[in-house]
Amino acid sequence: MTQRTLVLLKPDAVKRGLVGEIIGRIERKANWSITALELRTLGRDTLEQHYAEHVGRPFYEPLMEFMASGPIVALVVEGERVIEGVRALAGPTDPIQAAAGTIRGDFGTIVRENLVHASDSEESAEREIKIFFPGLA
Ligand code: PPS
Repeated sequence: MTQRTLVLLKPDAVKRGLVGEIIGRIERKANWSITALELRTLGRDTLEQHYAEHVGRPFYEPLMEFMASGPIVALVVEGERVIEGVRALAGPTDPIQAAAGTIRGDFGTIVRENLVHASDSEESAEREIKIFFPGLA
């Protein structure tokens, strides 16, 4: 089942020099490929679109502030069961609950600085890819 997903390497991943490590884990998976990639600092407009479903949640403002605190890397990954697959590579939202071997389990300690975002469904992936890479069909 070929899919595509939006992955964001959050400001903590960029600041800590973990971009190569995280992208390497994605690149080494069989039958996946990176089809778009960009380093950029996100403005409020983009973040409001991306996190629209979380407006009003207690973590919304801390999340928005954190995501605007430095550059991120946005990428589109395509391949076999990639939506479920990247989320499995990332591990659960809270890094303390994440197993060793996952990105969050290996490198994270607090929920806010959990290193990566990955789309959670085909519908979310298409919506999010349009926000970050409007030129992609
Ligand atoms: S839910 O209820 O399942 O939709 O929420 P969840 O997927 O766990 O979290 C949604 C996004 O909010 C981030 N988050 C936080 N950021 C900062 N501080 C706190 N306390 C916090 N709690 C959750 C979480 O990492 C998700 O961000 P993305 O970018 O989608 O991974």
